Amino acid sequence: MSRYFLTTPIYYVTAKPHLGHAYTTIIGDAIARWHRLLGDDVHFLTGTDEHGQKVQDYADAAGKTPQEFVDEIAPLYEQAWQRLGISHDDFIRTTEQRHKAGVAELLKRCYDAGDIELDVYKGKYCVACEEYYTDDELDPGDLCKIHKRPVEYYEEENYFFRLSRFQDRLLAWYAAHPGAIQPEFRGNEALGLIKGGLRDFSVSRTSLKWGIPLPWDSKHVAYVWFDALSNYITAIGFGGPDAGDAERFESWWPGTHLIGKDIIRHHCVYWPAMLMSAGIEPPAGWAVGGWLLVGGEKMSKTSGNVVNPLELIDDIGVDGFRYYVLAETAYGQDGDFTYEGLISRYNSDLANNLGNLLSRVATVVGKKCEGVGPASRADSPLAAAAAAALDGATEGWAAMQPSRALDATWQLIRATNAYLEANEPWKTEPGPAVDAVMGDALEALRIVCLLASPAVPATCQTIWERLGLPGQVADQRLPEGARWGGYPGGLTVTKGDPLFPRR
Ligand code: MSP
Repeated sequence: MSRYFLTTPIYYVTAKPHLGHAYTTIIGDAIARWHRLLGDDVHFLTGTDEHGQKVQDYADAAGKTPQEFVDEIAPLYEQAWQRLGISHDDFIRTTEQRHKAGVAELLKRCYDAGDIELDVYKGKYCVACEEYYTDDELDPGDLCKIHKRPVEYYEEENYFFRLSRFQDRLLAWYAAHPGAIQPEFRGNEALGLIKGGLRDFSVSRTSLKWGIPLPWDSKHVAYVWFDALSNYITAIGFGGPDAGDAERFESWWPGTHLIGKDIIRHHCVYWPAMLMSAGIEPPAGWAVGGWLLVGGEKMSKTSGNVVNPLELIDDIGVDGFRYYVLAETAYGQDGDFTYEGLISRYNSDLANNLGNLLSRVATVVGKKCEGVGPASRADSPLAAAAAAALDGATEGWAAMQPSRALDATWQLIRATNAYLEANEPWKTEPGPAVDAVMGDALEALRIVCLLASPAVPATCQTIWERLGLPGQVADQRLPEGARWGGYPGGLTVTKGDPLFPRR
């Protein structure tokens, strides 16, 4: 059994969960579920990023201590993920003791390696990004390019991570691991940053109190990005006090990171260098997503275009929302969220295709087969479409392209609907001809359940049960489970309410 450790970014607790956060988390969830179907031992991690100047400022403004503030927001993420059916195995908060211990250990290792040194920093800082910028990285008027708001001037004694020493090592590592960053054009962006020359970055602050103290100089707290990135290893035991911690860490690391395109520098440049300095292997891979834009802009509190995923699922259902997020945009590209787009996807792919297929099959089996599903035929005309769907889905999920995997899966749904329309079993007298067609359609639906379940898990479980199949879809294994011929026949098929009423 292979081990698969997958992470999402940890989200800042300065904003409530919005569509942009839900986007990466749903992608991660679907990929994790696919790997579980493959029989991999999966560890899917998400969490919240709770230290730093921004949190301190928000807490001050709310008249709360930072701890009180983060304790109110972090659970909103856990609740949102629960409602969206996210199957994470762990949720890390950077204010937890296990994290603080691991960050201290990582800092110490980099310090002992001679890669962290004291220096004076003077420069312009965007508090929203928690990042220093040079003049040429800013818009006129010293505005941050992402947040369109003025940066602040900071001058302080900082410890620096000597990133500039890592250029050759990083380039050599990436050359030896082609394709580590998906999609490829995002990998080229990361290489461009490295080739363009690397500036040392500050890893501590003295002006800030809300953070993790440096183990050798407690006047300083760790820079929030150093703190945050470490979550990927502290969550699996790195630097932990218990006997099994080191072993747990070894068993899961290296992991695969899902990130947004705005945090490539931190994840694909800083992070592998930090790990190299500490004598730890770089990540297994990165899959970089674009942004889901609303009205052409990145969703953010500052832009005032925040879409709350929980309101959308009240409207369209959890699986309707998950499907849209996964199917609409090729991962890596930007996508534009529109309510019309959401409804149109729902109607075409879910109501008219998947929902309609189940309803037709259950109706005809009810009327023409006494409600008992006939077995499928080995030589069915749909067998080739099912094999192609399995291949296409396997390729799409492996390439971190859920939209491609779902397109391949929906080809089988469309082929099955077309097969029913060509044969019109609803017009045929009960008997072997109807049984043959319905056995094929039931088997195609069984395979669809497996292939679509990472995206729309609750729906697929419902279909599975209506087909009379026992157990859980999630307990099936691929590829064996999706080979043609698994529907045994003789099972009671239930019609039930429409899965996706048209909107
Ligand atoms: N806390 C840091 C990440 C630390 S990871 C060690 C952070 N947090 S964030 O909450 O601002 O954003 C987290 C991720 O969500 C980023 O990858 C970002 O790209 C993604 N998204 C935030 N808004 C988004 C959209 N509107 N669309 C898609 N993803 C976006 O950065």
